[in-house]
Amino acid sequence: MLRIPRMNRRVRLVAACAATTAVLGPLIWLWQASLLPDAYSVTDMGYADYGGGPVAGSMTHVGHGAHRMAGHGVGSLTADPRRPADVAVTLTARRQRFPLPSGRVVDGYTLNGQSPGPVIRATAGQLVQVRLVNESVSEGVTLHWHGVDVPNAADGVAGVTQDAVGIGREFTYRFVADQAGTFWYHSHQVSHKQVSGGLLGALVVTPPARPAGVVDVVALVHLYRGARTVNGREGDIRVEAPPGGRARVRVIDTENGPMSVWVAGAPFRLVAVDGTDLNGPSPVQNTAVLVTAGGRADVEVTMPADGSPVRVHLGGSAAVVLGSRSYDVPAVPRPKATLDLLSYGTTAPLGFDPQRPDRRFRYDIGRRPGFLDGRPGIWWTVNGHLFPHVPMFIVAEGDVVRMRIANHSGAVHPMHLHGHHAVVLSRNGMPATGSPWWVDSLNVGNGESYEIAFVADNPGIWMDHCHDLPHATQGLVTHLMYEGITTPFAVGGTADNEPE
Ligand code: C2O
Ligand code: CU
Repeated sequence: MLRIPRMNRRVRLVAACAATTAVLGPLIWLWQASLLPDAYSVTDMGYADYGGGPVAGSMTHVGHGAHRMAGHGVGSLTADPRRPADVAVTLTARRQRFPLPSGRVVDGYTLNGQSPGPVIRATAGQLVQVRLVNESVSEGVTLHWHGVDVPNAADGVAGVTQDAVGIGREFTYRFVADQAGTFWYHSHQVSHKQVSGGLLGALVVTPPARPAGVVDVVALVHLYRGARTVNGREGDIRVEAPPGGRARVRVIDTENGPMSVWVAGAPFRLVAVDGTDLNGPSPVQNTAVLVTAGGRADVEVTMPADGSPVRVHLGGSAAVVLGSRSYDVPAVPRPKATLDLLSYGTTAPLGFDPQRPDRRFRYDIGRRPGFLDGRPGIWWTVNGHLFPHVPMFIVAEGDVVRMRIANHSGAVHPMHLHGHHAVVLSRNGMPATGSPWWVDSLNVGNGESYEIAFVADNPGIWMDHCHDLPHATQGLVTHLMYEGITTPFAVGGTADNEPE
């Protein structure tokens, strides 16, 4: 029998313990450092990034009480409280099982008994007032007005601009819909679950002088349990459009990934992106449009004079079929070519000079192993940091801001900045030469980089996150914060705010 001398055994034991501590110690420390408190303000998160701009004397980021007292709360950033509403809607949220017209049953959410919720329509310049009532959603709800540059108090982000609305409670949103275009609304409480479960709807703002004789079609595309739907139904929807007339199809991609749109039976023009009309869009054919997750694309078709129908393919399995005498137009495969918005349409003034920015930020998306709130995994990083140790982009009102978004994370990220529209200046170093391309949702593919610019003209605390909503739960979330703005709301806490 082999006997290990006692001394030797002890040495080995000590050595083993030391080795274990050397490996486990830092891991335990990393694990512990990643744990999020039960309640925290997003303004205390991460580190301040001033983008090379002035660090104003009053700007003392990261949990300094003095700063908090000195600032304006997000609650004061509202539409004129004395102005009466032009459009008033009540939306009642319910947790509900409901059938799609195909019979497929969805265990999800409804607004006024339907999903998607009702289309809200307004004329540009009108004040929209939406009263959200929670009847039966136990985790609470909010409504975010995706792509509308609302006052911050109406942005609908649980834990940042309000508390999640619990059962039996209500919240009223008020904003002036000053930009004509296609938008949508959705919950921003546990959004990865509530949005996919159908707590969403379309918002269409039309110009005061509406072009006469244009058939206006909303096409909100959503996946319910993996089934692609248009306005809540699977397959095709038929819309009457007279021969020779024009039709505008407002495509809204509410899914977590990009969606292709292409047209068979007539050429088309892409007339608007993310609620902003393009300048001088020319007719195209045999070309697909890539709609960013969360983004919108308004496609205009002139119907053939002979009365033949037109199929607008939405991701392949769903379509809007425009017709009159017949709706018989077969599906065709996606064209190989994709419309490049960098060079589509003609240039026009931007209204500001992006060549002289006050601040420059970078938003570098990567991926690495680590802990997220104590969970080990391979998580998204922003500028090398894991959530919540990510940058807080700090601006002053009136700043011209440039941001370089680069993605080397191995996946596509549809990046969405709340409260602002940004213009694309270049992609992978190639300058934009077409119509001004204003976005609120930008599809950033792996290996791509975009240079964008915007004017900081809407004070508040604004999320700037990935709209592949599960990615947001995996830490791809930052905020843009105006100096001196504070929030009394917290993520977590008694309202269980969980914006992602
Ligand atoms: Cu459509 Cu922060 O979201
Ligand atoms: Cu993402």
